[in-house]
Amino acid sequence: MADFDVIVIGGGPGGYVCAIRCAQLGLKTACVEGRDALGGTCLNVGCIPSKALLNATHQLHEAEHNFAKMGLKGKSPSVDWKQMQAYKDDVIGGNTKGIEFLFKKNKVTWLKGWGSIPAAGQVKVGDEVHSAKKIIVATGSEPASLPGIEIDEKTVVTSTGALSLPKIPKSMVVIGAGVIGLEMGSVYARLGADVTVVEYLDAITPGMDGEIAKSFQKILQKQGLKFVLGAAVQGVSTAKGKATVSYKLRKDDSDATLDAEVVLVATGRKPYTDGLGLEALGVEMLPRGQIKTDAHWQTSVPGIYAIGDAITGPMLAHKAEDEGMAVAEVVAGKHGHVNYDVIPGVIYTTPEVASVGKTEEVLKQEGRAYKVGKFSFMGNGRAKAVFQADGFVKLIVDAATDRILGCHIIGPAAGDMIHEICVAMEFGASAQDIALTCHAHPTYSEAVREAALACGDGAIHA
Ligand code: NAI
Repeated sequence: MADFDVIVIGGGPGGYVCAIRCAQLGLKTACVEGRDALGGTCLNVGCIPSKALLNATHQLHEAEHNFAKMGLKGKSPSVDWKQMQAYKDDVIGGNTKGIEFLFKKNKVTWLKGWGSIPAAGQVKVGDEVHSAKKIIVATGSEPASLPGIEIDEKTVVTSTGALSLPKIPKSMVVIGAGVIGLEMGSVYARLGADVTVVEYLDAITPGMDGEIAKSFQKILQKQGLKFVLGAAVQGVSTAKGKATVSYKLRKDDSDATLDAEVVLVATGRKPYTDGLGLEALGVEMLPRGQIKTDAHWQTSVPGIYAIGDAITGPMLAHKAEDEGMAVAEVVAGKHGHVNYDVIPGVIYTTPEVASVGKTEEVLKQEGRAYKVGKFSFMGNGRAKAVFQADGFVKLIVDAATDRILGCHIIGPAAGDMIHEICVAMEFGASAQDIALTCHAHPTYSEAVREAALACGDGAIHA
């Protein structure tokens, strides 16, 4: 008899959610995690700590820029960086301890240590080998650097180092205008650093709706971030604790450099599968290092499954969680499913940016007939009351059927509002369905309804 029905390797959002769901479905489950705390990159050095710093620095920004307007006078708060770090660490601790509690509650065994798979049906942790009927690999990803750049996590840092810098740098160059670059760039810009973002492409946030990206860049520029677009970074040199980033402008091949106290390399992440022994087992991999899986997340070796950042698809905690729940259903003999067409993406800057479904650019490529309904937060009373009227909701629907194809929002609480559209899309709803749904006043969500009205006979407050 096997020691466990399921062993999940990796205790991040994909792995821990999968383990809990497996246990809830009656399977004897263990989860292998080598860090001192559960929660993976997301809780320890990703989503959660960055949100703590984004929150603290957003409050600072409000105090510096908006308090006086609201009649709140007095000195702006000064920054106690050590305390801000302690706050962030408390937030991490609270969340990771929460997962430990959930493991106990659901009777998931935490096997502490780094796991490998010596043979199908076996997981080695430290010196011990445990047997399992099914193994699920949820080992996540790690930062991907560029050739010519040596990360020391002091002067040249990844997102991990950027969360725990010993002091606030006076200047920072961020390589890559993706999610990490813009979130962490915002944090340090709000803390007073001179932040320049260098991006290979001609627009920020690749893959995002073009109109939203343009508006987002303008808003970030107003907040003090600088951008060098169309610039391929060639390397970073360091001397005496300072860094020089060299890049080539793609339009004319000219070379240029930028100096900074800290360089954040945010050029993407790569699957983390080192040391698992997948090669020896004959687990098929994809050219970009992901584990190849079938429609039920099973690898080429029967009984071994993989989910999350270690396989294809967007590297997002919630995508990994969905796969974790679905694969748990599969190994329990049920029918797990993930709708990859409805996975939202959110950037937690101020304003937030959120997106689900297709962009106009993709629909044009596909040659589909679509209609756009847009509504600016300038027409939203609630957003105006809190100085967050920059931005808009853009709803894209099928020209013939009115069925929602995508939604892109830049504005207050965009990351929460997008879920109305996610639910609508799951139900195959039309813009009219949203337009006919009563939305409470005064809420930011009224802007979503107005965008839906704009797909039909017109918005009211435009
Ligand atoms: P990303 O893929 O979002 O952006 C990387 C950027 O670097 C791209 O714009 C790319 O064009 C640029 N780049 C690549 N090579 C370059 C070069 N040589 N010179 C200049 N620019 C270059 O990657 P990022 O921001 O590192 O994030 C990694 C992953 O983590 C993403 O999949 C992201 O979705 C996820 N993540 C999600 C968050 C969220 O949901 N809020 C927060 C943080 C990360």
